[in-house]
Amino acid sequence: MIREAFRLYRGKARLLRSAAAGDPVSRVLSMPRGVAGYDRYERVRERGELVRGRSGLYMTASHAVCGKLLRSPDFGAVPTTVSKRALRPTDGSAQRLVHPLDDSFASIDPPEHTRLRKIVAPAFTPQAMRAQEEFVTDVVEQELDRVDRQSTVDLIDEFAVRVPSRVICEMLGMPTSDHELFVRWGIEFGAIVDGARTPGEVRRTRQLLTEMAAYFTELCARRSREPGEDLVSRMVRATEAGEMTQPGLVATCEALLIGGFVTTANIIGNGVVGLLAEPEQHARFLADPEGLAATLVEETLRLDAPAQYSVRITRTPTTLAGKDLAAGSPVVALLAAANRDPEVFTDPHRLDLTRPNPHDHLAFAAGIHYCIGASLARLEGRIALRALFTRYPDLRITGRPRYCPSRVIRGPQHLPVSVR
Ligand code: HEM
Repeated sequence: MIREAFRLYRGKARLLRSAAAGDPVSRVLSMPRGVAGYDRYERVRERGELVRGRSGLYMTASHAVCGKLLRSPDFGAVPTTVSKRALRPTDGSAQRLVHPLDDSFASIDPPEHTRLRKIVAPAFTPQAMRAQEEFVTDVVEQELDRVDRQSTVDLIDEFAVRVPSRVICEMLGMPTSDHELFVRWGIEFGAIVDGARTPGEVRRTRQLLTEMAAYFTELCARRSREPGEDLVSRMVRATEAGEMTQPGLVATCEALLIGGFVTTANIIGNGVVGLLAEPEQHARFLADPEGLAATLVEETLRLDAPAQYSVRITRTPTTLAGKDLAAGSPVVALLAAANRDPEVFTDPHRLDLTRPNPHDHLAFAAGIHYCIGASLARLEGRIALRALFTRYPDLRITGRPRYCPSRVIRGPQHLPVSVR
């Protein structure tokens, strides 16, 4: 335990020393959680298309290089966990804890990835999304009815989180009565998703993973006894048919729940913050929320990506952006920076609803791991932002937003607003 703590602190101290010495890669990895990293990303961009940090880790802010990396079969997915101790069970048993990203298809390479993704994919097809449209609209309207018109409200707690959380719970066949628990998991997961780096983070990771696994193991057992038409029941059937492992089942349930609402809530939060910061764009949107809602979603995803970066590792020696990379080289794709690449987007740091190419962002990544929930997130974001500004055109921010304490997840966790 003491040796592990020492190793973690030494790693962190090394990172901070490299950052202080001006290494732009270490500056990104060591930035405080919950602050915007855009200035630091620009320092990476200034150093070239693909930058090697002092630790040997590569990083890219280039849209072209991120796209190439994410689509190349020479690169594979990589687990997010920094400390193995974070996956050691709290009860001392031998089997390691299940991690929603490391043990679901999000971190698995083909052919296994292809097979597992196919089990879940039917729930997210365009046809399946069309069938959700009415339900999402009803949820949005019901949640807007609940918003208190008289006083300041927290838009995230009262609306932005509630909509996607209710929708994904319905898809998974989970009780919305456990909403508060899921919100806490979402926040805690955001804080450790870029890897536990201190003994405190290791402890919190172990607690969270233990709690989530217990919940989903129990839920899956119930669905095995009483199957329904929901997504968890479908995955339980696949597991019983030998197509998925039990840890893979639990991890995928967790990934879909957390992925299903945390990042999507950030489209709403980031969309409101971004639009209200630009009075001209705000007025344009209020004049035509129906016509511009889809564009606002794309511009929000581009300007303030809810998942700021993705990591890949070379499976074989390869070349990227003119550099030779040995097998086993990790590369960070700064999606949020690629989305502000001046080679692709004019005046990239501004929200612009008249931009000709708002869809060209990489907020959902690209290639085989392209976000499976992208259509759902777009649907929810479009309906929620359109209805919010139509119902409450006088919506304004009344206090400082507080951001999710994460380097990867970007979005306000608290956003005080008045709708009067
Ligand atoms: C604004 C909303 C969202 C954003 C920005 C987002 C972002 C991303 C990104 C960047 C990836 C790729 C990660 C990588 O390549 O390393 C991804 C993958 C994934 N996302 Fe999302 N996501 C969102 C919403 C959702 C929703 C609504 C769900 C589920 C209901 C979901 C489930 C997943 C899953 C399961 C993967 C893994 C896909 C694979 O590896 O094949 N996400 N997401």
